[in-house]
Amino acid sequence: MGNNVPKHIAIIMDGNGRWAKKRLLPRVMGHKQGADALDRLLHAAGGMGVEHITVYAFSTENWKRSEEEVNGVMGILRDGINKYFREYSKSNFRVDSLGDLSRLSPELQADIARLKENSKNGKGLHITIAMNYGGRDELRRAVQNIAREVKEGKLDPDAITEDTITQHLDSYPTPDPELIIRTSGEFRISNFLIWQGAYAEYYITDKLWPDFTPEDLREAILAYQKRDRRFGGRNEGGVWQSG
Ligand code: FPP
Repeated sequence: MGNNVPKHIAIIMDGNGRWAKKRLLPRVMGHKQGADALDRLLHAAGGMGVEHITVYAFSTENWKRSEEEVNGVMGILRDGINKYFREYSKSNFRVDSLGDLSRLSPELQADIARLKENSKNGKGLHITIAMNYGGRDELRRAVQNIAREVKEGKLDPDAITEDTITQHLDSYPTPDPELIIRTSGEFRISNFLIWQGAYAEYYITDKLWPDFTPEDLREAILAYQKRDRRFGGRNEGGVWQSG
């Protein structure tokens, strides 16, 4: 894949419901197939040179879905987390989370905490699972913590930089994603990594998430490698010029 592989890829796994509907199956079956697609991808990604993968598993808005669907996704998450717990030492994965976990069931919270703690020295792929996550909610919580530090006299408001904000986000210290993939053809950010994705390249594919394969990931990386990233500057002969 060459040396210009994005170190951090984030994924909006969209289209599970449509995948199930096309087959006249319950929506939860689509999420189950989606979890299997994710598992195949995670086992292939490290070999492509990717270091961090962040996936949007459950958003702050997803609570509005039916109780049956919410419970179904929560069960799939718990099964997935326990599966990664069983194999973290073999796969070398390091698993983290994003989002406000306090609204998840105590059992799921305990499983996540156990997996994070036990996999923290994993030298392989770093996987971050966003659960009860919203980019605005993450920023709100960061602002609350910054305000607390100001109130306690630990932080001077004039000393607040962009880095201060970055350092108060759930994702810190993971570097920003260079590539964000969204499946099932929607051109929306949906409140995902709105701060961290400021300079990311976006890749949209019509494939529904359960159909997304490691080969599709390879294609997304190839498309990324063909793009000219400028960060608001000009790329002249490989030299970055600001302005
Ligand atoms: C969006 O599809 C997908 C979700 C809301 C859930 C994604 C969760 C998983 C794939 C499970 C991940 C498992 C682990 C262990 C991390 P949608 O329902 O919005 O699809 P639609 O737009 O076609 O209705």
